[in-house]
Amino acid sequence: MNYIGSKVYINLKQLVKNYHLLSNKVGNLPIMATVKANGYGHGAVEVSKALEKEGVRYLAVFTIEEGIELREAGVQSDILLYSKLNPHGIDSAIKHKLTLNISSFDDLKILETYNTQEHTLKVHLKVDTGMTRLGVPHNQAEDFFKQAQDINHIEIEGLYSHFATADEGDLTYAKSQLDKFNAVLTVAEKLSIKPLLIHCSNSGAILNLPESRFNIIRTGMLLYGGFPSDEVPQDLPIKPVMTFTAPVVEIRHVKAGTHISYGGVYTTKEDTRIAVVQAGFADGVPRPWYVDGFVKFKDQNLKITGRICMDQLMIDIGSADIKYGDEVLIFGSNEHGTILVNDIAQTIDSTSYVIVAAIGIRPKRIYS
Ligand SMILES: Cc1ncc(COP(=O)(O)O)c(C=O)c1O
Repeated sequence: MNYIGSKVYINLKQLVKNYHLLSNKVGNLPIMATVKANGYGHGAVEVSKALEKEGVRYLAVFTIEEGIELREAGVQSDILLYSKLNPHGIDSAIKHKLTLNISSFDDLKILETYNTQEHTLKVHLKVDTGMTRLGVPHNQAEDFFKQAQDINHIEIEGLYSHFATADEGDLTYAKSQLDKFNAVLTVAEKLSIKPLLIHCSNSGAILNLPESRFNIIRTGMLLYGGFPSDEVPQDLPIKPVMTFTAPVVEIRHVKAGTHISYGGVYTTKEDTRIAVVQAGFADGVPRPWYVDGFVKFKDQNLKITGRICMDQLMIDIGSADIKYGDEVLIFGSNEHGTILVNDIAQTIDSTSYVIVAAIGIRPKRIYS
């Protein structure tokens, strides 16, 4: 059966190029590739395997289930779980050789009483320096580290924190987080805690705060070819890995004054032709994009007319030479041009992260 529907083309060669560009940029420091949320919509297994081939040895996901999916697909690298420790998932984490995020005193208590028998649990200790999400407050790091040291059956492989504003033009807050993290490292040193991996840098910090790279960087967005914001230097020639397309499935002639889609918020100004495109917000087309949005067919930008539906959207094709089955570009690149996710994000006051991670399970992913 011929597939009719939206497609997501994932250019793994570009992912690999982005990886090498980034690796070069950071003087070949190891990179912990963040492949959570299905690799930001790109396919966690395929992305992980492609990066492993290039020498990546550290990956990070959010949930245990995401880690297990990678293991079951044969991924060998170390995998850090970013999520809050799930006390009921420790057995599973051990079985699948997943590295635990320890981000509270309660987490330590759980590990203390955990009967590991012959296993040593590999952990990364997380300290909060200003994100106010997971992590022990930086000014309690000393107690946190001492209690961690008292647990014999854990190996403190990593020590880390996370920036809240590293992708912004004003780096005052990020720098204050970095100062706090450096103070935490001094505490660790005083206690003779020498983790193999010290990490703080996400994509924003890699570009904006090179002094925060320590001995490994933790990145997602740059690998996928997007910039975390418009307030970071953009001289790294990375390119988007993902291209999103969908087919035209219906073409209709309409009169001036015709209302299109839910709410009837769009009305044609003249007689024209409207095409129905088979992709909607359930596939990952950002719904607010309908106000100013367009798709590309060859070198023409065709306006989205009216609200994007769950499974379909409509465009004004005028007299363009389009027929059933022709693919339009929703974002990404083809031989005719590019629509940048970053530009869509800016227009609809969103971020590239939101847009790529919202790509649903329905579009067919095609890897090259
Ligand atoms: C804890 C943590 N580290 C690193 C990252 C990677 O961020 P980025 O994609 O900006 O590099 C994320 C992503 O949100 C994260 O939650």
